[in-house]
Amino acid sequence: MKRVVILGSTGSIGVQALDVVTRSPGRFEIVGLSAGRNATRLAEQVRAFRPRLVSVADPAAARELRALLGRDAPEILVGDEGAVAVATLAEADFVIAAISGGAGLRSTAAAVEAGKAIGLANKESLVLAGEIVMAAAARKGVPILPVDSEHSAIFQSLAGHNRSEVRRLILTASGGPMRTVPAERLCDVTPAEALRHPNWAMGAKITIDSATLMNKGLEVIEARWLFDIEPDRIDILVHPESIVHSMVEYVDGQVVAQLGISDMRGPISYALAHPERLPLDLDPLDLAKVGRLSFEKPDPKRFPAFRLAYGALEKGGTAPAALSGADEAAVAAFLSGRCRFGDIARICAEVLDRHVAEPLRSIEQAIAASDWGKSEAERRVG
Ligand SMILES: NC(=O)c1ccc[n+]([C@@H]2O[C@H](COP(=O)([O-])OP(=O)(O)OC[C@H]3O[C@@H](n4cnc5c(N)ncnc54)[C@H](OP(=O)(O)O)[C@@H]3O)[C@@H](O)[C@H]2O)c1
Repeated sequence: MKRVVILGSTGSIGVQALDVVTRSPGRFEIVGLSAGRNATRLAEQVRAFRPRLVSVADPAAARELRALLGRDAPEILVGDEGAVAVATLAEADFVIAAISGGAGLRSTAAAVEAGKAIGLANKESLVLAGEIVMAAAARKGVPILPVDSEHSAIFQSLAGHNRSEVRRLILTASGGPMRTVPAERLCDVTPAEALRHPNWAMGAKITIDSATLMNKGLEVIEARWLFDIEPDRIDILVHPESIVHSMVEYVDGQVVAQLGISDMRGPISYALAHPERLPLDLDPLDLAKVGRLSFEKPDPKRFPAFRLAYGALEKGGTAPAALSGADEAAVAAFLSGRCRFGDIARICAEVLDRHVAEPLRSIEQAIAASDWGKSEAERRVG
């Protein structure tokens, strides 16, 4: 029985991870859950899975959770320290890191330091501090298993192959809901339009990042650290059907790809059970029904955001953290109607340009750079 902690249990990934656990009775025990402010959903999860320890983002959510659970409440902690305590719970074997945004970094890093195997959904952990997190994982001998579908596809396509024979990684992108929208209309896209993703149901931040293609840029940074590969050997290919989840090209020109339906429970279960595979009763991939798989190059003119990620990697050090923070603030501003869709990439570009990168030395420095990026972006929104 694997003892599992889920950070971000009330989110899109968290809920699907709990669904995978439920579908494999006797395989997993949930020992800790961490959430933000959704006390109602967390209370349901606590009743269903009986974790020993939970955490929420603030005291108001903790009060609400206590009121909902009454005498059945487990120990409830608060804030980043609470999430770190859940992430490092002594009896846990495996931590699914699925908090959204830079808020997930401290708990991911703490879980790695505590020697827990990680199922990594929170790409921002590697965007902000990939060098440090991966070095700590190597030092502690802990596996970081990707949950992001593209990175899971690459991880699966690398299995049984020699890493030194990889020529390049090809990350596929759906292109998002704005893929075919003409350039002149892009600026005025509304949050409701941008939240309508054609293939995936995900949290709001990653859905907007998919619409701008910033998500693909963040995934390039994630892949750079996760697979220890130079950015110029990571390519992006738009694939609107989202069936080929990503590919690896080897030195002999042969390409290995992983295919599947658009359902995050696939990569979640692969990470959870690795090196085994769980029998999962999901819809089968019916390629005859899909009929056609198409591919095209991403358009940097209409979607400049993904290019910024390569620029941030080139600047190095704290630059990706600053870019990530700027994007978080710009996306939040767009969702609350304070800036336009087209402003997101522009604001991020300006903030990245202004950032004076420093060599990355600590998790706290990465968080400070991300916070700086947020406040610079806020200033531009204002
Ligand atoms: N969804 C996907 O299909 C998908 C695919 C690939 C990668 N990812 C990555 O997975 C991560 C999670 O994405 P998601 O789509 O699941 O996001 P989401 O639906 O917005 O859920 C985010 C989770 O994080 C919690 N949270 C937010 N801020 C927090 C804080 N300050 N402290 C503690 N918990 C906090 C939320 O809690 P409350 O809701 O309780 O406030 C929620 O449980 C992201 O990094 C994303 O890029 C997601």
